[in-house]
Formats: sequence, C-alpha cells, structure tokens
Amino acid sequence: MVNYLRLSVTDRCNLRCIYCVPREGLPLVDHSQILTYEEMLRLVRIGVQMGIKKVRITGGEPLLRKGIVWFIGELNSIEGLEKITLTTNGVYLPEMARPLKEAGLKGINISLDSLDPRLFKHITGMDCQERVIRGIEACQEAGIHPIKLNSVVIRGINDKEVTQLASLTFERDWHVRFIEFMPVSNGIFWSRERVVGHKEILERLSSEFGPLEELPHENLGGPARCFRLRGAKGIVGLISPVTHNFCESCNRIRITARGGLKTCLFSASEIPIIQLLRSGLSDHEIRSVLEEAIREKKRAKKEAATHSIRISSDYMSQIGG
Ligand code: 5AD
Ligand code: SF4
Repeated sequence: MVNYLRLSVTDRCNLRCIYCVPREGLPLVDHSQILTYEEMLRLVRIGVQMGIKKVRITGGEPLLRKGIVWFIGELNSIEGLEKITLTTNGVYLPEMARPLKEAGLKGINISLDSLDPRLFKHITGMDCQERVIRGIEACQEAGIHPIKLNSVVIRGINDKEVTQLASLTFERDWHVRFIEFMPVSNGIFWSRERVVGHKEILERLSSEFGPLEELPHENLGGPARCFRLRGAKGIVGLISPVTHNFCESCNRIRITARGGLKTCLFSASEIPIIQLLRSGLSDHEIRSVLEEAIREKKRAKKEAATHSIRISSDYMSQIGG
C-alpha cells in the first residue's frame, strides 16, 4: 500500500555533507525546471485521492525555498492528508520552528551526525552545529512532535558517538535514529568498510546500556526499527537499508526536485511528471500515470526484495533522501 509521498522542493543545500554532495557542489537545476508550489499542490491533491496520507517535504534543504511556510499551510488545508513532516539539516530552525509549527507541520527529522562541533563542521562543511542544536530546542519549544534526529553512521568518522547520541533519549522525548551509510550520490565517500551495520550498533548500545526493549512499528512509519533504552524518555531507531532489505514493506513514492516520479530510491528511471503537468493533461490522466507507476512498483517489489543494494548515481540532495 503506497500511502506516503516524499516531495523534494529544492535541489539547493547550504551544506556539503561528505556523504551527500561533492565539496565543489553540484550543477544546480534551473528554477524553471523545478516544480512550482501550485504544481506540487495539484500533485498532492491527486495523490490524496489515490490514498496518500502522509507527505514529507525534503530537499536539498527545503527551508531554503522561499515560501515554504506558506506551502506547508496550503498542504495542511488539503482534506484527507493526515500528516505533513519535513526533513531538514536544521540550520534555519532557530527562526523557523515556530512558523512551521503554526503552519501545521506535524513532525520533523533533523540531521545530527555528531555532537562534537569540530567533527560536525568536518562532516557538513559548515561551522553550524550550535545553530542546529538551537534549532532542535526551538522545535521542542514550539511543540513540534515527534522530533527525530538522524545520524548517518560512518566508520572512522562518527561511529564512536553512537552511544553518546543515543544517550540524548534519556533526557528528551526525541527519536535518535541511526542510518546505515548507503551507496547513493554516486557512491561518494562510500565503501563497505565504512558501513556500520544494524547488528553492530545494537551490540554497542546493549553493552553500554543493557538490553534494549523493541517497540512496535509506528503507524504510517517508515522502515525504522524502534527500541527504548532502559529508563529513557525517547526512542532509538535503526534504519538499515544495507544489511536488511525492506523493499517488501516499502510504502513510499518520491517526487524529485526536477519533478520526476521515482518509485524506488535505487531505480535508475524516473517518470517526468513535470512534463505531464505542463503539457495540459487532466487530473484524471495524471492519476492514471501515477497509478500505473505504483502497479509497476508492486510488481518490481518481489524481485527487488532479493537484490542486494547497489550504487545509485542519483544525488540525495536532488532526490530528497
Ligand atoms: N546514506 C544514508 N543516508 C543518507 N542521507 C544522505 N545521504 C545518505 C547516505 N549516503 C540522508 C541523511 C540526511 C538526509 C537528507 O539524507 O539522513 O539526513
Ligand atoms: Fe547534508 Fe542534507 Fe544538504 Fe545533503 S541535503 S548536503 S545530507 S544537509
């Protein structure tokens, strides 16, 4: 059942994370080739008629796009859309947390790869950890819930911090999620050795904190397996695309910043929805295209579930993670 749409609103990002974009940056997509908010709202309305219940706004860095708060407010008025969430690097949250909450944002995912400001700068290319921490606190104060902090764990870079990051859940009702390093973005910086698997993370956490309690899956949740450290307020999540194939339970489709429909993060092809929208097709015709893509996804799933992960040439900042 596909009920979750990830919508990338921009390919621009103010950071240059080592695992996501080359330090010199990427060629930017011309503004005219990026979906307008009106086009996105139309797509979401069609999606909702087909059973989409949750939209996650991604980028690049979605808070860079002008009018994003307005857009979230518009999404919030779409009948039948239950949940609007956002994935961000958090740099603009000190100022934007409150307006986002007021516009109807239901949850937020913030990248937090390190608690050490120097390492944070090394990973992201910008000295901004203090702003991100303030941004997380601003979300807490604004009442955005849940707050999920995402760390891509990379051996030799931030893997030593897993226990410290997980400890945040003792004090706060936050989710701290560890994501296995994937060979996306043309495999930039990636190697097998740098992947810290789910099992190893669980072992480290249980040797530090004692046995972990596994929690049931969230409603409309993604592929994270959730655990609670004994006595903690928050949740530790593990997202393991490399060591666990979760294609079978995948419930999402993606729209890239360029207006392409992707039914799988690792599929090389995308359907140029932007052209369909701009060539005057009716809602009904667009819906048929989306429905056929979803049928194809279901057919491909059985096969995908037996594949091991492969390098994707798509950059995460363009397809929205
Ligand atoms: N592996 C895993 N996650 C990644 N992200 C970006 N690149 C990768 C990768 N190679 C995710 C990070 C970031 C979000 C924008 O995309 O979680 O927080
Ligand atoms: Fe980092 Fe996210 Fe920007 Fe990629 S899109 S460079 S992961 S902040």
